Amino acid sequence: SAARKNGYDTFMLKEIHDQPEALLNTIMPRVKNSLPDFETDGIPDSLFEQVNRIIITACGTAMHAGLVGKNRMERLAGIPVSVEIASEFRYSNPILDKNTLVITISQSGETADTLAALRLAKEKGAKTLSVVNIKGSSIARESDYVFYTHAGPEIAVASTKAYMVQLAAMYLIALKLCCVKKTQTDCFIRNEIQNLEKISDSIESMLDYAEQVEQIAKEIKDASSLFYIGRGLDYALSQEGSIKLKEISYIHSEAYAAGELKHGTISLITDGVPVIALATQKDVYAKMISNVQEVRSRGGKVVLITSQMPHLDSSICDYHIALPQIEDDFAPFCAAVILQYLAYFTASLRGLDVDQPRNLAKSVTVE
Ligand code: G6P
Repeated sequence: SAARKNGYDTFMLKEIHDQPEALLNTIMPRVKNSLPDFETDGIPDSLFEQVNRIIITACGTAMHAGLVGKNRMERLAGIPVSVEIASEFRYSNPILDKNTLVITISQSGETADTLAALRLAKEKGAKTLSVVNIKGSSIARESDYVFYTHAGPEIAVASTKAYMVQLAAMYLIALKLCCVKKTQTDCFIRNEIQNLEKISDSIESMLDYAEQVEQIAKEIKDASSLFYIGRGLDYALSQEGSIKLKEISYIHSEAYAAGELKHGTISLITDGVPVIALATQKDVYAKMISNVQEVRSRGGKVVLITSQMPHLDSSICDYHIALPQIEDDFAPFCAAVILQYLAYFTASLRGLDVDQPRNLAKSVTVE
């Protein structure tokens, strides 16, 4: 198995490094003339024509990719999207019809609750599309259409590269919806696609943040509890960052919408409690900074993640990570790498088995 790790100590670290290639493999076959093209997937444009509502259902990390998908599809294509945890959706007696598109997301394609959610969606007459990494898996076989992500085999229990390409799938599907629904100009869509084509290079450069993030991991590794906060896309990312840390470092953590913190949870912010604050989005930046100040004035130890901010007064946080120059809409890809590294180094410094955390399985086929 050392050989399969390709020289890395762990599968997780190898898989973090696999991400630039996984992104290229997932994005490039779906681009033609700088527009999204799903012809090789056999997904016809007509699938999207009558859709007036989308439900994304999945479990765990895949569900978190769905949260980013909701943001993209609503913002860009103007279609209402809800994201449902599969184990809830399947027992919720959902209201569905032929104009509802149910998108299931699953790395393994075998998660029992996600499969049951898909079966229910079909039974109730919705159209179904799945975003799956494993060829020929149950979810892939049973859904009307499949968009395969091409992450390659993911061995570490904590998902990294599969999540990354699920994000790419969400962007591509959102842009396809824009084309079919004509909610954006071709020029806008082409520009977005060109940004997506460059994302692999950005992620390559993100790999160099390892040392900086490891230094920060040293400062949080002995915490008994910590918080992730963000707004909008950053809130979606926060939820994934938090679960990643819990899964492998066994430190209690929670993700909070930054503006909601003051309605209860801020009572837990006391001296030295680490708070990972994501502030990559200009439209809510000022609000995020004021949330950071609230946290800090209560003694929270703030790790602030922003885009390039030449005028940032770094005394407002304890540690600052600046992402490379990137448009706000694409910052989630870069921020994801920081959060993966933070979980990875924290768990490693605690001497834990990052690839095989206690109590967790790669694929959960019980309900
Ligand atoms: C398990 C794994 C998680 C994963 C979830 C959904 O709980 O430990 O990492 O996100 O299942 O898996 P799927 O294969 O459906 O993406």
